[in-house]
Amino acid sequence: VKKVRVHHLLSAKQRGEKLTMLTAYDAVTARILDAAGTDMLLVGDSLGNVMLGYDSTVPVTLDEMVVATRSVARGTSRALVVADLPFGTYEAGPEQALASAVRLMRVGANAVKLEGGRPRAATVRALSDAGIPVVGHLGFTPQSVNKLGGFRVQGRGEDAQEALLADAAALADAGAIGMVLEMMPEPVAARITQAVPVPTIGIGAGVHCDGQVLVWTDMAGMEEWKPRFARQFGQVGRALQQAAQDYNAAVRDASFPGAAESFEA
Ligand code: KIV
Ligand code: NA
Repeated sequence: VKKVRVHHLLSAKQRGEKLTMLTAYDAVTARILDAAGTDMLLVGDSLGNVMLGYDSTVPVTLDEMVVATRSVARGTSRALVVADLPFGTYEAGPEQALASAVRLMRVGANAVKLEGGRPRAATVRALSDAGIPVVGHLGFTPQSVNKLGGFRVQGRGEDAQEALLADAAALADAGAIGMVLEMMPEPVAARITQAVPVPTIGIGAGVHCDGQVLVWTDMAGMEEWKPRFARQFGQVGRALQQAAQDYNAAVRDASFPGAAESFEA
């Protein structure tokens, strides 16, 4: 299987082929999602919510992202591995961002992702100039949840739409290889997708983006709750609970382990 490279993303957009991205936080999940043919694995800072039990991405540290990125990279052979720069590790400017991004690249990231538009353009340029592919993230940006006032759709109204378009253009001009568009009206994401030369990857942004991303636990139905924009393509949480119940019962009635699972003298 051929490794997905940055230039494949651009040619996919040009050919009108949709790109797929899922989050991953560990090696075993990465192996499964990679074997499924997922184009990109995002080591998202949603790690904080999904794996660490925080109620936002704000507490996630660079050390935590380094561990997850190393694990996902080891479990991946085909997908492009994108790692999130967590809150507080890049906003001070290009110098801070470069030091943080280098740590993620050294453990196997193929690109990094950061949140924000025009205020991030110089940083995107600096990382790109250093040989680090950068994915942008516009619309609802979870690291700014405290400023945005909760999980709310962004880009509603003419002014907000124009602001998002200017942000997207600035990221593309600064050398971003693509951008996530999160929770914005479908027509706004469609306009951005038409306007920028690099792929847009939507989450709660409608079907006209160049690709889609979901948090893998939402996609797989690990828990009952899901955000409105997600779809559960399985009930893996239920299957996992059933497997554990079956295991517990088999241990308790001594039907596990059997002869095939035991060693002779
Ligand atoms: O951290 C994450 O999972 C993300 C996606 C929702 C795009 O940034
Ligand atoms: Na993220």
